[in-house]
Amino acid sequence: MNYTEPHRPQYHFSPKKNWMNDPSGLLYHDGTYHLFFQYNPGGIEWGNMSWGHATSEDLTHWEEQPVALLARGYPNDVTEMFFTGSAVADVNNTSGFGVDGKIPLVAMYTSMYPINQTLPSGKYVLAEQQSQSIAYSLDNGMTWTTYDTENPVIHNPPSTYASEYQNFRDPFVFWHDETQKWIAVTAFAEIHKLFLWSSDNLLDWSPLSEFGPKNAVGGVWECPNLFPLSVNDDESTTKWVLVLGLNPGGPPGTVGSGTQYFIGDFNGTAFTPDSESVHPENETANWLDWGPDFYAAASYNGLPGGERVQLAWMNNWQYGAAIPTDPWRSAMTVPRRLSLKMVGGKITLLQRPHENLQGVMGHRDVSHSWHSVSEGSVDLGSLGKAFHVSLSFADHDSDNRHASEFAIAVRASSGFSQQTLVGYNFTSKEVFVDRRKSGDVSFDGTFGSIYHTALSACPDGRVNLEIFVDWSSVEVLGGQGEVSLTSQIFPDGNSTNARLVSTEGSTRDVKLQLRAETAHES
Ligand code: FRU
Repeated sequence: MNYTEPHRPQYHFSPKKNWMNDPSGLLYHDGTYHLFFQYNPGGIEWGNMSWGHATSEDLTHWEEQPVALLARGYPNDVTEMFFTGSAVADVNNTSGFGVDGKIPLVAMYTSMYPINQTLPSGKYVLAEQQSQSIAYSLDNGMTWTTYDTENPVIHNPPSTYASEYQNFRDPFVFWHDETQKWIAVTAFAEIHKLFLWSSDNLLDWSPLSEFGPKNAVGGVWECPNLFPLSVNDDESTTKWVLVLGLNPGGPPGTVGSGTQYFIGDFNGTAFTPDSESVHPENETANWLDWGPDFYAAASYNGLPGGERVQLAWMNNWQYGAAIPTDPWRSAMTVPRRLSLKMVGGKITLLQRPHENLQGVMGHRDVSHSWHSVSEGSVDLGSLGKAFHVSLSFADHDSDNRHASEFAIAVRASSGFSQQTLVGYNFTSKEVFVDRRKSGDVSFDGTFGSIYHTALSACPDGRVNLEIFVDWSSVEVLGGQGEVSLTSQIFPDGNSTNARLVSTEGSTRDVKLQLRAETAHES
């Protein structure tokens, strides 16, 4: 795509026009990455929820496709909206949807019914009810057929939770090889509970187990994901990761949406978190991202050999509908690879930028290094509006010779009155993103803030920050990827300057690698 509107992301997916929220059905099949997403075909705010669709061969160049599931009755009389869900390739045709040897792709989603009605299947639903339904595609995801003879396939919550029928959503479905079953994880949003189901054929579902409430319980629980990862790349040790969204109720210092995770085991029936992943007093949580703009994280089904790649909605319900972009709203994060590794004696979830990102900002790196950056600043000139920075420096304790803080200012105006700071505080040992002066912050009173989280130096004594800047976002991955901070920014178009800033002393052994925007191709 060759979009040029102010604030238009260049290497992040955003729809050509209209409102987008959650990734809803990330599926890799037959060489194509499918991205389905919550989409309003008729406006720039949430409504008429449908599944938009985009495809990519490399997760970085996207082609928007026709809407996959259009709100039933759109535009005048919407009787069913298609909320968040997931998608699988039913390679063994367990569903029976496949004909002539074609592999059916099956999407499982939440049907949200605005009004009481008797459905084509004969099932009766109440106004505002949320139930789980399926649709299938026999042409590699280009067109979809809703399974109207039976939908919804999970009509009501189990009787214990019958009263939750309006807050029952977001099925994440996957194939569990060990038990040869499909598993779906759903959320009872208001009571902070996840509910797991199993099926042989994607059509008939039986209740399995429940999880929660645990750790952070702000707002509602939504958009669960559950997947295995090997530890330290050793295929004999597998752990399961459970990810879910909270809204409002994100990490400390943020307002609005956030994402937490648990590491544990899944035995085909229940997910049991490791004790070190649970914080009984709810005093803390495992936050997947410490910034304000990372929500409804979802991961790809269908990737080979234990790979896990995640995308999240790079926005926040607090101000999502007020961000100053037009004629679209919202982008997805960059694709990130997930892995588990022992870090500081603890199994830790790491996020690494997908390697295909290397190609999108040009092929030439520019490197600089400084034995020491003295107190003050080093001008880096103009870096354009989209670029990637790897910044690393020696950790130290701050004293009267050494800096208290080291930062890079990006997307800055020539006089630096406008800037976004990404840096490290040597006293608190925290990485931070400061968007107080990042540009337009006026549309929401909570937007202009600082976000921060603890980050230890790597075993070699260095602090590493990888920073992805686009026309309206800054994503920071710290250390080996154990922390992530994702923020939108809305700077002026000519705010392209950058500099390094060492505060109250010097910073040692600074290395900077830059890859800046080239003329972008479609
Ligand atoms: C999360 C969410 C989901 C729901 C969807 C509706 O952002 O509230 O729980 O399915 O958005 O668009």
